[in-house]
Amino acid sequence: MGTDIALDLGTSYVKIFLDGKGIVLNEPAVISVDLETNDVIATGKEAYDMIGRTSSKIKVCHPLFGGVISDFDLAKYLIESDLKKINVSKVVMPRIVVSVPCEITEVEKRAVVDSISAAGVRKICLIEEPVAAAIGANLDISVPHGSLVIDIGGGTTDMAVLSLNGIAISRSVKIAGDVFDEAIIKYIRRKYNLVIGKRMAEDCKKTIGCVFPRKEILTFRVKGRNAMTGLPQWADITSDEALEALIDSAMKIVRVAQGMLEKTPPELMGDIYSDGMVLTGGSAQLYGFDQLFAKQTKMAVRVADDPQNCVAIGAGKAIKSIDSADSDDYGILNPLSGEY
Ligand SMILES: Nc1ncnc2c1ncn2[C@@H]1O[C@H](COP(=O)(O)OP(=O)(O)OP(=O)(O)O)[C@@H](O)[C@H]1O
Ligand SMILES: [Mg+2]
Repeated sequence: MGTDIALDLGTSYVKIFLDGKGIVLNEPAVISVDLETNDVIATGKEAYDMIGRTSSKIKVCHPLFGGVISDFDLAKYLIESDLKKINVSKVVMPRIVVSVPCEITEVEKRAVVDSISAAGVRKICLIEEPVAAAIGANLDISVPHGSLVIDIGGGTTDMAVLSLNGIAISRSVKIAGDVFDEAIIKYIRRKYNLVIGKRMAEDCKKTIGCVFPRKEILTFRVKGRNAMTGLPQWADITSDEALEALIDSAMKIVRVAQGMLEKTPPELMGDIYSDGMVLTGGSAQLYGFDQLFAKQTKMAVRVADDPQNCVAIGAGKAIKSIDSADSDDYGILNPLSGEY
C-alpha cells in the first residue's frame, strides 16, 4: 500500500505534506533548462539560486503562473522530481489531495490532474485552495457559520467566505508576492535609476518590506547597475520607501476584499464581523498586512500560524476524507465541495 500525500502546487513554492509526517518539502517552483540540449539542469532551490545568474544557454523557468500550470511538460517534470526528493517513487503509487485555485477552468484543472497522473498515482482528489487554507488555519468550516480566509501567495491572492465545508463567495486576483517584487524593482529604478534583479527585490521585500508603517525604520542595501551608465551601483532603501512602493498593490487587494464583503450574505457577514478574518499564504508575512486590513475593514485580523504552509496542511488534513468520497470516471473528486 502506498502513502497518502497532499500537494500544494503554488506559483512560487511547491509544498508536500506526508500523511503522518506533516510538511516534508517546501521548494521553489522553478526549473532551469539547458536551451541547447533541452535538458533539465536543476529544480527547486538549486534552480532558484540560478535566477538572474545564468549564461545565455540556460533559462530558469516557472512552470506555474498565476496559480495555474503554464508549461505542462515542465510542471510534470517538477512534480516527479519533487516526489522523488521525498522518496515517493512510481512503484509506491500514492493517493494525492492537490489544492487548486477556486476560480480556474476545467481545462486548467485537467492540466493539474494529468501532470500528476503522469507521476504515477493511484487516486487524485482536488481541494479548493481557500477551503484547504481555512482547514490549515484550524478554522472549523463544517458548521453553518461564516469564516473569511484571505490567502496571499506568490502569484494570486485568493479569498473566500466559507460555511458548511463550501465556498459561499470567493474572489481571486493576480496580485501577490510577485507583483510586490515587481513594484520594488520599478520603484528603485524610477527613484535611483538603479536596475536590480528579482531575487534582490524579494530579499528587500522580506527584510524591510511593509504595507503599514513600521514602528522602527529599517534599511536594506540593494545592489545592481545604473540604468544609464551600466556601472555597478547600490542604494540604501528604507522601510518607508518600501511602503511607498508596495502600498498601491496592497490596497488593490484590500479593495477586492471590500468588494467581496459587500456581496456577502448578511448572516455570514455577521459571523465574520464577530470572528474577524484570517490571513494565510507566504505574503501574509509581509509586515503590516494584518494592520492594513484591520484599518480598512474595521474587523479583527489574524495571521495564521505557519501561513505559507496552511494550504498544504489543510489539504493534508483532508486526506482522511479520500475514502468517503465517490470517484467519477477520471478518479477525480473533491471531497469537501461536493462539486465532483
Ligand atoms: N517574510 C516574508 N515577507 C514577505 N513576503 C514573503 C515572506 N516570506 C515569503 N514571502 C513571499 O510569499 C510568496 C510565496 O508564498 P506562497 O508559498 O504562499 O505562494 P504560492 O502558494 O507558491 O503561490 P500561489 O498561492 O499564488 O500560487 C513569495 O512571493 C514570497 O516572496
Ligand atoms: Mg498558494
